[in-house]
Amino acid sequence: MTWKILAFFLISMNALAQDFETEAKFLATDLKTSLMQNLSEKVAKAGAPEAISFCHLNVKPIAKKAARDRIDKYEFGRTSHKIRNELNAPQAWAELYLKDFSEKFKGDIKKEFFIHKLSDGKQLYIEPLYMQAQCLLCHGENISKQVKTKLEEIYPHDKATGFKLNEFRGFIWIKEK
Ligand code: HEC
Repeated sequence: MTWKILAFFLISMNALAQDFETEAKFLATDLKTSLMQNLSEKVAKAGAPEAISFCHLNVKPIAKKAARDRIDKYEFGRTSHKIRNELNAPQAWAELYLKDFSEKFKGDIKKEFFIHKLSDGKQLYIEPLYMQAQCLLCHGENISKQVKTKLEEIYPHDKATGFKLNEFRGFIWIKEK
């Protein structure tokens, strides 16, 4: 990317800063990229079982770093119909969306994101996440024995395995504070 394009991009982003949808989408992409990058590096370096404890300990700090200054304006997280960490259990707003998406595959529901208005007027950005090849390692049908052992140790009530490639896995969400 040349500097001109980058500068244009940054100025455009600034101009649109008021627009919740634009900001939330940008932030969601940032969070996803940053999480996956850190996770892939850890899997490559130390193997999947080690990456699980890493993910467990660092998921919030990584997300916070990716969110930088925007952290004060928004809350964010991930949720699912089949959760691994109980802290990610669905809030009331998520129930209907999860019902619609549960057991669906990429392409079944065409919408890439939703803007949901909460009863207090705050906006919520909701984006579905689908299983990619690299997710199978820790959420798939044939996870290795070592990964399984590690998961049982940290998440004794884990429900987030047995997913197929391209299956709906959960949502990433961003909420106005
Ligand atoms: C190295 C193992 C590993 C890989 C690879 C991995 N995850 Fe996870 N995933 C985890 C762990 C561990 C948690 C629980 C994190 C926590 O404690 O908050 C988790 C949690 C989640 C959650 C939050 C909901 C819940 O169940 O608690 C979603 C959504 C999710 N993963 C989606 C994905 C997707 C999509 C991919 C592929 C792009 C992926 N994961 C790849 C280990 C992994």
